[in-house]
Amino acid sequence: MNHRNDTPVTVIGLGLMGRTLAATFLKAGHPTTVWNRTTAKADQLVAEGARLAPTVADAIRPDSLTIICVTDYRTVRELLGADGVELAGTTLINLTSGDSAQARDAARWAGERGARYLDGAIMAVPPAIGTPEAVILHSGPQQDFEAHRPAMEALGTITYLGADHGLASLYDVAGLAMMWSVLNAWLQGTAMLRTAGVDAVTYAPFAQQLAVGVASWLPGYAEQIDSGSFPAEVSALETDARAMDHLIEESEALGVNAELPKLFKAMADRAIAAGHGGEQYPVLIEEFGRPGG
Ligand SMILES: NC(=O)c1ccc[n+]([C@@H]2O[C@H](COP(=O)([O-])OP(=O)(O)OC[C@H]3O[C@@H](n4cnc5c(N)ncnc54)[C@H](OP(=O)(O)O)[C@@H]3O)[C@@H](O)[C@H]2O)c1
Repeated sequence: MNHRNDTPVTVIGLGLMGRTLAATFLKAGHPTTVWNRTTAKADQLVAEGARLAPTVADAIRPDSLTIICVTDYRTVRELLGADGVELAGTTLINLTSGDSAQARDAARWAGERGARYLDGAIMAVPPAIGTPEAVILHSGPQQDFEAHRPAMEALGTITYLGADHGLASLYDVAGLAMMWSVLNAWLQGTAMLRTAGVDAVTYAPFAQQLAVGVASWLPGYAEQIDSGSFPAEVSALETDARAMDHLIEESEALGVNAELPKLFKAMADRAIAAGHGGEQYPVLIEEFGRPGG
């Protein structure tokens, strides 16, 4: 990435991710201060030019930009709430993973201490940091995001979601549903095909193609959800439900797990019982939008 910037940054937390964030800021030319509970994890960064602060209080200077990336929000609070840590006038960007309530709570807590606060979520693994593939989501006041966008752009593709501090975490957690759903669906098919001697490597490219094909339906289906109208343009839910029976019956006949297909079917059956059998699949949003299970 072609990025040079002289804004000083502080990185608190030098785990697998924090170390990579700090190294990437350094490489992009930012004077970088670091702090970590286990100081040895800073050795390589110091050799590359980072300043190791002796305490969190020392690491966070007035008007500084501080990125914190530790295990969880409880640790964020412990570290930033420690005696002597002065947050007034600083900007905090919290890239620690958590949920939306924790993010909103952390924003309130930091605001009470006079800090500007942005919450963030890293949708990437450490090796991708510093490349466009590393998508980093931000939420909080837009002017604070814009003020620090040039520095944050060293890390990857920087995205702003809105003023609600909970949004970055909410997108992050919502993305987990996508990840595990795709993986579980693939594992279901793989288990079925293995009974016929088809190995996982043989099925994977077919599964990948299917997943990409299904993903291409999302924008059109999303329009149906937003308009609240679900005409069966391609297939009616009751047709899908019959195919779900095939999936359940085949899984049971093969002696593989049928829990996931039965979950699909239970949700579809409820929507059909509510009178939606003639509508298209995304009408199930009504089932997903209320508590169940
Ligand atoms: N790694 C990834 O692929 C990835 C991807 C996206 C998001 N994230 C998120 O990034 C955050 C950090 O992940 P990571 O992979 O860097 O984890 P990690 O390697 O386990 O590092 C955890 C960091 O938190 C610090 N820490 C934990 N408890 C502490 C405490 N009580 N007091 C002080 N420091 C404490 C650790 O300090 P010590 O070094 O002293 O133990 C270390 O700096 C997590 O929220 C994770 O979900 C990670």
